[in-house]
Amino acid sequence: MSENSYEQSEITARAEFVLKNVDLSWSDIEQKDILDIGSGESALAQEATRRGSTARITSLDRKVEKNWLGLPGQVKKRLLQAEGEALPFSESSFDYAIMHGSAGSDVIPEAVRVLRPGGELRMAPLAGMLLEYWNISYYLDKVKGRPQQEIVQLLEDFDRRIEEADGWLPNEYVKLRKEALDTLSQPQKIKVIEMMVKRYSQVLNLSFSFKVDDPSAREPNALLIYKKPE
Ligand SMILES: C[S@@+](CC[C@H](N)C(=O)[O-])C[C@H]1O[C@@H](n2cnc3c(N)ncnc32)[C@H](O)[C@@H]1O
Repeated sequence: MSENSYEQSEITARAEFVLKNVDLSWSDIEQKDILDIGSGESALAQEATRRGSTARITSLDRKVEKNWLGLPGQVKKRLLQAEGEALPFSESSFDYAIMHGSAGSDVIPEAVRVLRPGGELRMAPLAGMLLEYWNISYYLDKVKGRPQQEIVQLLEDFDRRIEEADGWLPNEYVKLRKEALDTLSQPQKIKVIEMMVKRYSQVLNLSFSFKVDDPSAREPNALLIYKKPE
């Protein structure tokens, strides 16, 4: 969704998709302070406004285009241009921090900082850069049998391209990931997600849990959850 104009139906569909993937409902977020990190065109906030939701949604993206301020006739929303790695909020400002298809793992410590005690970070799909790299190297190494040097070069190339893509994964990368995942059984897929979450927890020194909505899907969509202690 990097083009310039959106139909209301697209906004609604995208907002529902985002909420579903982070396992929240409109009623879950009523009266809550939500930070949508890497919000893109801020579909969630736009749809919340259209529905008259009482959720207080702050949309934040490193790039803000003028149409993202909302569809014609909608009330003004809170949309900030900022880097997820340096959030312009004090500690304990939000009940939920949502990262949907957006920024990488470097943003997580900041998202956690601005959560209230008992607040939750919800990140989906489980595709932070650190995990993606680990995932690719794991599979290509084991499944595809590529030489290590080739993997390193591939990852360096992905690194550069993902940086440039600002969260939109290059097609070549998505194709490789699909190829790798296709070779796995469902239990193996879940095992991999468990390993990825464990890796995230180790690297970031935070205790994450996860949910998988449809384990039979070719790429089971995993939701990473961190609940800040009360
Ligand atoms: C694939 S889009 C997803 C948009 C939205 N979350 C959705 O699911 O509809 C990713 C967005 O994250 C933003 N982004 C990526 N890294 C970011 C960062 N470190 N800080 C702030 N925004 C970031 C990009 O500018 C882009 O608009």
